[in-house]
Amino acid sequence: MKKVVILAGSPHVNGTTAALVEHLLYGAQAVGHKVDRFNVATLKIGGCKACMACRKPGGPGVCVQKDDMAKVGAAVAAADVVVFATPLYYSDMTSQLKATIDRFFSFGESMKKPKDVYLLLACGGPDPKALTPVISVFEAMCAYLGWTIKGKVLASCCMDAGALAKTQHCMTAYEMGQKI
Ligand SMILES: Cc1cc2nc3c(=O)[nH]c(=O)nc-3n(C[C@H](O)[C@H](O)[C@H](O)COP(=O)(O)O)c2cc1C
Repeated sequence: MKKVVILAGSPHVNGTTAALVEHLLYGAQAVGHKVDRFNVATLKIGGCKACMACRKPGGPGVCVQKDDMAKVGAAVAAADVVVFATPLYYSDMTSQLKATIDRFFSFGESMKKPKDVYLLLACGGPDPKALTPVISVFEAMCAYLGWTIKGKVLASCCMDAGALAKTQHCMTAYEMGQKI
């Protein structure tokens, strides 16, 4: 049994990304993993203020912002597997998911334990190559943290959940969840 944390970054709670997340979650639970899902776009998570209070000697050692990141960050730090799910926004992840990742900073070295990472990425355009820039960001982030990307679902041509339902991407997400 692995501890799996899903960070879902879309403000659409019933959208494309949410459908991919549901399927991966069902697949992972079907093989006995413990899965915690956080819809970070609907939580209160402010951007990193770069105040460095979390790193100052004699300082609080934690983020000065008292919001939902305390519980999300603690769950991520304790996870064996992290799933990042986001629609493509102007060639990148959503700002809500990026704010969440930036706040990993205040968890310091506790984030740098080896983890497996899976990506669920959706975009409206037809060419999956549109997802290359955001994949590069996740690759660089994982290299910094010592995490390893183990699988990706690249759901191009999916402007909404209706378009996604006509593809095999949800089944791929389910099977990926089972293989975690
Ligand atoms: C602000 C915004 C920016 C977007 N930028 C892109 C883009 O650069 N390329 C693309 O293919 N689709 C783009 N899209 C389309 C979304 O990626 C697509 O509709 C996705 O399925 C939405 O997922 P969701 O329902 O989980 O929010 C954009 C949508 C929005 C709202």
